[in-house]
Amino acid sequence: MNTEILTQNQETPIEKKKTIFSGVQPSGNLTIGNYLGAIKNWTDLQDKYNCIYCVVDMHAITVRQVPAELRRRTYETLAVYIAAGLDPEKNTLFVQSHVPAHAVLAWDLNCFTMFGELNRMTQFKDKSAKNADNINAGLFTYPVLMAADILLYQTDLVPVGQDQRQHLELARDIAVRFNNTFSDTFIVPEAYIQKTGMKIMSLAEPTKKMSKSDANPNASVAILDSKDDIIRKFKRAVTDSDTVVRYAEGKDGINNLMSIYSCFTGKDYSEIEREFDGKGYGDFKLAVGETVADSLAPIREKFDALMKDKKYLEEVMRSGADAAQRIAAKTVSKVHRKLGYVGL
Ligand code: TRP
Repeated sequence: MNTEILTQNQETPIEKKKTIFSGVQPSGNLTIGNYLGAIKNWTDLQDKYNCIYCVVDMHAITVRQVPAELRRRTYETLAVYIAAGLDPEKNTLFVQSHVPAHAVLAWDLNCFTMFGELNRMTQFKDKSAKNADNINAGLFTYPVLMAADILLYQTDLVPVGQDQRQHLELARDIAVRFNNTFSDTFIVPEAYIQKTGMKIMSLAEPTKKMSKSDANPNASVAILDSKDDIIRKFKRAVTDSDTVVRYAEGKDGINNLMSIYSCFTGKDYSEIEREFDGKGYGDFKLAVGETVADSLAPIREKFDALMKDKKYLEEVMRSGADAAQRIAAKTVSKVHRKLGYVGL
């Protein structure tokens, strides 16, 4: 069902490109976890798929934001996308609040989502524990807005980390429920499993995922951190009382550093073990810090240049929003017809 066949001419039928959709919240400084786990892999998809990447500012306000910071981070997130190699000519890059169809479809889908389903979402439970003074309705219906994001574009594949799997599962359930109530309306999206589905852990508590909203600044490395900061953070990374650089169970800190080093250098674990044979953790941490800083330097440079050119970023936002809006409008009108709204 997902692979419509288009016929270019009699002999060579070509497959329509599948659509990929993903989003990042502009709610913190993007970390090397966001980079290695998501954005870096997306650059490999831009030729093969129809890729749509969104800066989800409407999701961000489910937690209180400082408006000026939200605005700055929205520009920054887009600039990071581009600096990391996502070509705005090949991908649709846009900001969620610029396409009102997200809010419109989210409302419709709210009426196809059960209270009990939302109440089971583990992220809602975690976030309401962390924000006990602001358990707003948006935090509760957050996964419905995410379902709208995905379903608006008739998305085939969604690259998401483990922590978003439950939300994607709900988006699938909502799509199936709507399709069954009326008739086929939405493509039922699937998770896109990335080749390097690396989960980068916190440098301070290596059993926890690295998070851009971690209160401890030494726990995460931002894509845009200075070289000195990056090296200092890696030097301080929590390891263990062993002294040998090797990948093994129980060595969460070292395992994490090895996987980061491996992502940036392409070396596998046994190569890394040989490289640091006879050397201590100090040498290894320094090498990881320098490698990460040097690999990120070109991205940082490009980012700085982009941030000086707000006009250009706004042009990208505008043309991305136009392209997104055109696709979204089709889905919304289809949905509204099926629901029984009067069309004018
Ligand atoms: N909830 C996702 C996160 O915090 C962000 C997101 C919003 C998203 N809409 C999406 C991811 C649609 C994938 C598809 O990581």
